Amino acid sequence: MVPRSIVHRHQTMPNTSGLPPLYASIRESRHASVFPFVAQRLADIDCRRLLDFGGGDGVFLAGYLPSCVREAYYYDIDAGIAAAARARQYALQPRFLAGLDALQPASLDAITMLGVWMHFRTEAQCIAELATLRRLLKADGRLIAAVTHPCFRDEVFSTFKTDFDMQRYLAPGSEFDVTIFDADASVTLRDTHWNLEAMSKQITRAGLAIAAIYERPDIEPARGAPWLILELAPAA
Ligand SMILES: C[S@@+](CC[C@H](N)C(=O)[O-])C[C@H]1O[C@@H](n2cnc3c(N)ncnc32)[C@H](O)[C@@H]1O
Repeated sequence: MVPRSIVHRHQTMPNTSGLPPLYASIRESRHASVFPFVAQRLADIDCRRLLDFGGGDGVFLAGYLPSCVREAYYYDIDAGIAAAARARQYALQPRFLAGLDALQPASLDAITMLGVWMHFRTEAQCIAELATLRRLLKADGRLIAAVTHPCFRDEVFSTFKTDFDMQRYLAPGSEFDVTIFDADASVTLRDTHWNLEAMSKQITRAGLAIAAIYERPDIEPARGAPWLILELAPAA
């Protein structure tokens, strides 16, 4: 467990969307456990054109892109966090999109969607967002989605914990609070629970298929796994 410092700052999500500004400063387990792994998968598939959907503060595009990527696109619905991402330095300057219409259908080798799925509030939204992204992928493209593992929401991990009641595991769409922290700061966000069955249904309805599933460990010994990575391909 990361020890708390004496001066610990905390912010709560201001409403159902939008990230508290402190979010960007927190050293979270996905940086060490998820981002390098996803970068390796992008290298494995020799990704040239990439969209980071829900790119947040831009840490992934700024610090983890493999050298095979020649064109990178960033999109996030939250103008505040997108402004923070724009202010970063990038080895490969991404194109910041105001919407996804600027992208041609079937033009991307990969889309990353890291920590975003839990922000979708309804099943209809999940299916619609996934279907939109599927249309942007080449026939052999990949949507790589990282989510907090729905099976272990009652575990306290090194950089996040939730108040989810596992008795509601079979109630997809249940909202819960997740608190993300490091030694200096914490933020509480409102997330939505999608269990494995719900995600698998959404994937199929969006015209996608599961190509691979990965479960990523915590940065400290832990029960279960904090992160689930779904690698999705357009269905044949
Ligand atoms: C928990 S943050 C993760 C950010 C980044 N991918 C990362 O891993 O550091 C989730 C991000 O998804 C964005 N987001 C939520 N719903 C979205 C939507 N419908 N379209 C695009 N971005 C969305 C949020 O604004 C937020 O920046």
